[in-house]
Amino acid sequence: MGTHVRAIKVRDVVEGIKEYKPGRWIEGAIKLSSNENPLGPSQKAVEAVIRCARLISRYPETLSSLDGCGCEAELIQELAGRLGVPPEGIVLGAGVDGVLDTLVKLFVENGDEVVIPIPTFSLYETLVRLMGGIPRFLQRDEQRNFEVAATDVIEVTVQKTKLVFLSSPNNPTGDVVAEAELRAILEALPSAAVVVDEAYVEFAERSFVPLVREYENLIITRTFSKAFGLAGLRVGYAVMDENLAREYKKVAIPFSVNALGIAAALAALRDEEHLKRTVSLVKAERAFLLENIPFKTFPSHANFVLVDVSPFTSKQAFEFLVERGIVVRDCSSFRGAGTSLIRISVGTHEQNLKVIDALESLYTRRRHAQDEY
Ligand SMILES: Cc1ncc(COP(=O)(O)O)c(C=O)c1O
Repeated sequence: MGTHVRAIKVRDVVEGIKEYKPGRWIEGAIKLSSNENPLGPSQKAVEAVIRCARLISRYPETLSSLDGCGCEAELIQELAGRLGVPPEGIVLGAGVDGVLDTLVKLFVENGDEVVIPIPTFSLYETLVRLMGGIPRFLQRDEQRNFEVAATDVIEVTVQKTKLVFLSSPNNPTGDVVAEAELRAILEALPSAAVVVDEAYVEFAERSFVPLVREYENLIITRTFSKAFGLAGLRVGYAVMDENLAREYKKVAIPFSVNALGIAAALAALRDEEHLKRTVSLVKAERAFLLENIPFKTFPSHANFVLVDVSPFTSKQAFEFLVERGIVVRDCSSFRGAGTSLIRISVGTHEQNLKVIDALESLYTRRRHAQDEY
């Protein structure tokens, strides 16, 4: 068997790619490493999954509204109504991850350049490299709370720049793109697609979806994984120019959003009460964390906070918290994030109290930072 395996060669580009490492999970610990909904899913979404389970032998597109479970077209219609955009400009995917995969396939050819301000969500880089694209990294400035400046983006673009990835709010830094900066980028680069990843937008003040009508090079990606609490079902979508959406559908894998995901997403969208409770809990608890964490923090518009644990390393802080039953994200795996940042998802009040307590006891050990703790 061994010799046969050695005869098979994967693409060169694959050999250089690092496997995606999700936030860690330790049995029994408080999990604040993947920015999930601290309240869990809407009960109505759970009921929809149970009610619609009987339909899973059918392809999602053939489901009809009559089953009470919804179909792709119904979910798109519901989203379009709420966002005030035409349904023809909305596409679905298996999470934002799935949408991003299709978008990169749609735009990036061998040797094309893609601007990625870092630190940010690592999948952008992986997908670009897989298509033979060249990521052009732009270091975000900690002194400016990591915010992206249009002039920096424009400065690194070249004729072969096909895409720009702006995450707003950005993971792991929590900052948002300023409207003036976004407009300047969209206007300066009319032939590059600008993806604004709004995975966490429900926790921010505003969305850039209304700008899609003005700029045909703007694409907004959104998800049901975070504020809607459906990370395990993998439902994401994008809003874009209608002509572009037609091209997108040629590239997308058919039926990438599963039937139960569609049913749950529809129920979650209609359960406005659960979304409201989630957003108000996260905003109040985010402020509570930012006020009480003894280390340096950064403003956040998302459901997580970024903490600079200097003089400790992020690895030391991570291990310290794990010993106390709390799992956060050590950001040293994010390109351009250095070695002293951790990202903590906003949890319930009880969980956040434990986080603050643990970080306070780490803080008191500052003088021993060179030692193990
Ligand atoms: C910025 C950003 N985009 C996209 C995703 C992936 O979202 P989804 O679960 O919809 O694939 C994440 C998940 O952590 C994220 O942080």
